[in-house]
Amino acid sequence: MTDHVRVYEVGPRDGLQNETVFIPTASKIALIDLLSRAGFEKIEATSFVSSKWVPQLVDAAEVMTQIIREGGTDYAVLTPNQRGFEAAKAAGADEVAIFGSASEAFSQKNINCSIEESLERFAPVAVAAREAGIRLRGYVSCVVECPYSGMVDPVAVRDTAFAMLDMGCYEISLGDTIGRATPDAVLRMLEAVVDYVPAHALAGHFHDTGGRALDNVSVALDMGLRTFDSAVGGLGGCPYAPGAKGNLSTTSLVTFLEGRGFHTGIDLTLLAEAEALVASLVTRSYEKVTP
Ligand code: HMG
Ligand code: MG
Repeated sequence: MTDHVRVYEVGPRDGLQNETVFIPTASKIALIDLLSRAGFEKIEATSFVSSKWVPQLVDAAEVMTQIIREGGTDYAVLTPNQRGFEAAKAAGADEVAIFGSASEAFSQKNINCSIEESLERFAPVAVAAREAGIRLRGYVSCVVECPYSGMVDPVAVRDTAFAMLDMGCYEISLGDTIGRATPDAVLRMLEAVVDYVPAHALAGHFHDTGGRALDNVSVALDMGLRTFDSAVGGLGGCPYAPGAKGNLSTTSLVTFLEGRGFHTGIDLTLLAEAEALVASLVTRSYEKVTP
């Protein structure tokens, strides 16, 4: 039997959050609708965060309530706190994600609190998600390097990941937020984490700034991970991680995985249509901001 790998599409959230010119709500919806037809089990559609922090995703509720949902797809959103969770629930999210960090400096810059405080904020979200029957995912950012404080100790990754698993996350996505991780560093980090969080409950989230994202996927596959995040068209970055470029492109990931004999269930023709739409949206944005 061919081994299945889940490709978790994060482009509409991780990709679009970083665009400086506002992308119309209708375009965001059109993109998600195209992706929905391409066979993804999971699409991260938007975030219920402060619009002062991420103005691009101010239309989260409209997006979530107007997309055409496919039966086989879970629509996920980021929720940093209870307020975000309540809004996500009202908008019909199938899955919510809490997002923490292995770096204190990044935690402060991204969500304005320490790692410990963030876990305190996430705990009631986890309880509320369980009570509402909404799946809970966790992110750990800066699993190898932080844009503000340099290299990150794998033990800190392990501890944040374990705290989130213990809180009820079914899966922890390990973020190379600035995309500078090397395969050796990813291996050292994973070796520390898998003692506490099993590989089947881990996902790889590799930004591709240094062009090593597929090499990092390869190492993670060897360690037993079977879920990877990627963004249509290689969109992405984090507004609070200077220098973070796009996520690993979904087409590159699917092509790589299928070439290695894994099954993904993603329709590359429909994905190409979604990629063309992204290219038109982002090009227009860049034309506006580039003199
Ligand atoms: P804060 O300022 O510390 O908190 O922000 P606050 O409670 O004082 O709230 C500030 C304002 O936001 C208030 O409004 C709140 O009402 C409002 P005001 O009174 O000033 O008008 N507010 C909200 N509004 C809408 N939805 C909410 C919400 N909560 C408060 N849920 C907070 C704390 C977490 C809210 C803020 O720091 C924030 O929104 N941060 C989001 C940052 C973000 O989205 N970063 C990008 C995603 S993470 C990422 O990209 C990494 C990842 O891809 C993995 C990887 O690559 O490593 C996941
Ligand atoms: Mg990211």
